[in-house]
Amino acid sequence: MNKNVSGTTTPDDLVIRAQGLTKTFDDGRLRLQVFSGIDFTLHRGECVAVIGASGVGKSTFLHLLGGLDAPTSGEVWVTGQQMSALSVAARGHLRNTALGFVYQFHHLLPEFSALENVAMPLLIRRTPRKDAFQAAGDLLGRVGLSARLEHKPGELSGGERQRAALARALVTRPACVLADEPTGNLDTRTAAQAFELMLELNRELGTSLVVVTHDLRLAARMDRVWQLEAGALRAYDGADVQASA
Ligand SMILES: Nc1ncnc2c1ncn2[C@@H]1O[C@H](COP(=O)(O)OP(=O)(O)OP(=O)(O)O)[C@@H](O)[C@H]1O
Ligand SMILES: [Mg+2]
Repeated sequence: MNKNVSGTTTPDDLVIRAQGLTKTFDDGRLRLQVFSGIDFTLHRGECVAVIGASGVGKSTFLHLLGGLDAPTSGEVWVTGQQMSALSVAARGHLRNTALGFVYQFHHLLPEFSALENVAMPLLIRRTPRKDAFQAAGDLLGRVGLSARLEHKPGELSGGERQRAALARALVTRPACVLADEPTGNLDTRTAAQAFELMLELNRELGTSLVVVTHDLRLAARMDRVWQLEAGALRAYDGADVQASA
């Protein structure tokens, strides 16, 4: 990428750039167009919330940004690399090094403990086991799970699983975390703490955040709020956020 995409912005500032994204689900029986040409840029260190009604395409949007699903047309660049131009292995490597995911449904591995689940992204990167478990234990402590290290996902509450999933997304200190309703199952106080942890990481390490949330009060703490509606992404007015939160 060598052209200036938005006035004063240089490509190095962009953690994610998406251009002309469309997505159509078509299984031959049902055809559903979810997006009709979305452009999106996320700068280094920027924190944004994505809001929108159920079924509007928020999870699909995060999957496209993170290379977990391919757009029907359009392109996504992650830290300057064009996702569609990469091999499956290279795309996986980029995901593992540059991105952290918090899925809408936690996706923890059931047969592994919380500690092992959180250490996993580091072990995949061949971080020495001692360091990986140390980092995983530290982060589990920061999400309030230091007494649950040996519990398997089935032995954790829904909110505890979500916090473990958050720790797993943050453990590699990625350039960007894509989080799909990371606080959806949490009580107000724990949700605020989980959000705070993400914002702390943003301040400490410049990690960019894209967070899908239904909580307008939490959304208002981000740099920008985007609303997905009728296949389009538009800036959501901050005053509205405050008023309706
Ligand atoms: N694999 C798929 N095949 C067909 N349709 C799909 C598929 N995945 C999602 N959809 C449809 O695409 C639309 C967007 O789904 P998505 O999961 O992105 O919504 P969402 O905004 O995240 O909703 P929620 O707030 O309920 O999580 C929905 O109408 C859904 O039914
Ligand atoms: Mg969703």
